[in-house]
Amino acid sequence: MQTLFLGPKQIGEAAGVIRRGGLLVFPTETVYGLGASAWDAEACRAIFTAKGRPADNPLIVHIATPALLGEVAAAVPGQARRLFDAFSPGPLTIILPRSPRIPDVVTAGLDTVGVRIPSHPVARSLLKAVGVPVAAPSANRSGRPSPTDFAAAVAQMRGRVDAILDGGECEHGLESTILRVVGRQVTVLREGAITREMIAGVLGDVPIGASADTGAAGGAAGGAEAAGDPETAGGAGVRSPAHRRPAEAPGMRHTHYRPEARVVTVTAGELPAALRRLEGIRFGYIGVTPLLGDCTTRPAVSVLASDLEDYARRLYRSFYLFDAAGCDVIVAELPASAGIGRALRDRLRRAAG
Ligand code: TXA
Ligand code: MG
Repeated sequence: MQTLFLGPKQIGEAAGVIRRGGLLVFPTETVYGLGASAWDAEACRAIFTAKGRPADNPLIVHIATPALLGEVAAAVPGQARRLFDAFSPGPLTIILPRSPRIPDVVTAGLDTVGVRIPSHPVARSLLKAVGVPVAAPSANRSGRPSPTDFAAAVAQMRGRVDAILDGGECEHGLESTILRVVGRQVTVLREGAITREMIAGVLGDVPIGASADTGAAGGAAGGAEAAGDPETAGGAGVRSPAHRRPAEAPGMRHTHYRPEARVVTVTAGELPAALRRLEGIRFGYIGVTPLLGDCTTRPAVSVLASDLEDYARRLYRSFYLFDAAGCDVIVAELPASAGIGRALRDRLRRAAG
């Protein structure tokens, strides 16, 4: 398939691709998405083929404004509305009861649908121009890190989609926070840039549960919890509803975020000793802690982030960079389990497999 490359101003052409039933890779503030009209079952099926994604892993539906929630969801619980009001447009996905209009292929047959209102200006213009909800997973081939810039999106999807729309580098660099809201119960299914602290700030005394190891949001969520991160697995001590309904944890079986190189996660204090063990090995380093004189073994490529947000923004891009540089090992600093650190720990644990 010939893939057309579009600039950020070519919104009309990009919207036309989706309206004609085609596949469009487009930027969001989290990662690039691989989009099709959510009303078009055949186009949505083509998303699964382009990604090599298992059919049991549902897609997130993107809309331009909260006014369109009623088109894709059968109901919007009060807590969900409060969260959308606080954090949308932005990197938040909420699992809602599905509208009967959403094709089965989008939800993988579940009775719920994940809904997100992205904030990236190009994504917003695109959604407005398209005029229909857009189903879009991350634009990586299944199992690979999500693309967070145009070059990575092209490398992953050239020849597999009709067009790729350039929107530069993604602001957050990790996929959206996914929440399940059932009545007063709120459960984090995937950690992201909307942190537990931010959610607690809006919901006050509402308990925020953690996804149990069988209760993640499909492939992209929950692996770290499965790997035993006590912070996320324990949460507020509330069991996720999905834990009791494992059929709603569609992607748990699938691997994610894997670069070619082996990922080793190391806390700042462990860095000097960990690096000494890599004598003679070609490795890359990413973290916020500078490698000082006590780190005698030097990385072939080093990515020093200015803070944890910057670390998140650059993580997947660095995975591709380290692979291109022929690194056999990636040493990634493991941050503390707070704020965006939780999302970083989740993705790092899964990349380390
Ligand atoms: O930031 C993001 O969320 C990006 C951009 C493109 O919006 N999208 C993204 O999509 O990360 P994807 O498909 O790579 O990850 C979505 C996750 C999957 O693990 C899927 O299983 C889960 O959301 N999911 C989608 N619908 C669900 C539902 N109804 N119930 C439970 N999990 C769901
Ligand atoms: Mg994904």
